[in-house]
Amino acid sequence: MKNVREFLFQPKLNQTIVSLEESATLAINQIASERRSAGESIVHFGFGESPFPIAEDIQVALRDSAGRKQYLPTKGLPALCAQFVQYYNALYQTSLLEEQIFIGPGSKQLIFNVLFLLEGSVIIPAPSWVSYLPQATILNKKVITPQTTAESKYKLTANQLDQICEEYADEQLTLIINSPNNPTGSVYTQSELIALTDVCREHAVVLISDEIYALFDFNDNFASPAEFYPEGTIVSSGLSKGFSAGGYRLGVMGLPKHMTVLANALSTLISETYSCVAAPVQYAALAAYLPSKKQQRYVTLCMELHRHAADYLYKRFTAVGLTCIQPEGAFYLFPDFSPYRSKLLGNNIDGAEQLCARLLEVHGVAALPGSAFYMPEHSLTVRIASVDYNGATALEALISSQELDDKFTHEYMPNLVLGADRIELFVQSL
Ligand SMILES: Cc1ncc(COP(=O)(O)O)c(C=O)c1O
Repeated sequence: MKNVREFLFQPKLNQTIVSLEESATLAINQIASERRSAGESIVHFGFGESPFPIAEDIQVALRDSAGRKQYLPTKGLPALCAQFVQYYNALYQTSLLEEQIFIGPGSKQLIFNVLFLLEGSVIIPAPSWVSYLPQATILNKKVITPQTTAESKYKLTANQLDQICEEYADEQLTLIINSPNNPTGSVYTQSELIALTDVCREHAVVLISDEIYALFDFNDNFASPAEFYPEGTIVSSGLSKGFSAGGYRLGVMGLPKHMTVLANALSTLISETYSCVAAPVQYAALAAYLPSKKQQRYVTLCMELHRHAADYLYKRFTAVGLTCIQPEGAFYLFPDFSPYRSKLLGNNIDGAEQLCARLLEVHGVAALPGSAFYMPEHSLTVRIASVDYNGATALEALISSQELDDKFTHEYMPNLVLGADRIELFVQSL
């Protein structure tokens, strides 16, 4: 009798969350890993995790801090906030203030927290990173997803933003942009940012600038909108990509100087939820944001490998007739299989979900459909993460001054070659 009662007891749950699916990136990672463990040859273009080992200095700092057991201030370790501000303001033309910095368990959580605190609708350009929309949904927010085009390299234009602001003139709006971009690899230029932030200023739009990939900017083009719109830009950053430390769970957020009410509310929210980020991790992060030559070199070498991988795949994809914008940063490509639309239709594929299912089932290539990034159902865009290689050996080879050429790709990034070969065979077989 007791067991039956235990079995029947299902608490009532928040249906908004129950109806959400697991994050698409984590789900594809699970499938690809399971199939790999079962011995199948899978090229994993699905998951965007930095492949490099964490720099030795950061690892040493973490080990040395294992005894740090105190709770830290909700906003973060003061020395880390100060060091981040110094590091960031020296790189970009910005004037973030130490008092307005927050350290959180990943930038994902910090973005969620500010979305929670901000009133009004959220503008999330399509395509955008998979988690923004579910976060807004969890918070019962209205979401506006303007469709961008390949012509603008999938970047939101000032005109598009202006139209939305006119339409929603009565409410506060929050815009999230991400540059360098996941899933497209695009980087907003200075003039694009100036035009966008002019519109933001005119309509008092709160701008969340997700800069988690800022250190992987291939053409030295990255600028922060906080340079042009300091009063309304919330900067979001962290250790996960530039320092290859996703699992450390350390994100950084910089609020505008005068948004003190938001800062106080964020502090209260943190104090009543996770309290603070693990102390040893915060001490380790001090080593990341030290403006040392060693750290700079590490980031530059990782960036060069990302650029090389992106250039290789870009060449291969365009050579077989896929439409693709050339990545300018991060570690993703966003090829469009539209040139093969009628042939794909002939093979019962009329959207990227079916396309990705076929690529995985028949060709052993895991990739994510554009629809996971809010592209329309029939779009044939696919997100490719270009990090399926052994980062440690690739980094060592580059340090021992191996040339970054095709030979390097074949030797140190063989799965990128294999994946491109399989995609080529697939389109040729249509
Ligand atoms: C665009 C974008 N923003 C934020 C994040 C989350 O980063 P974090 O590890 O700091 O939570 C990711 C991770 O994949 C991302 O791609």
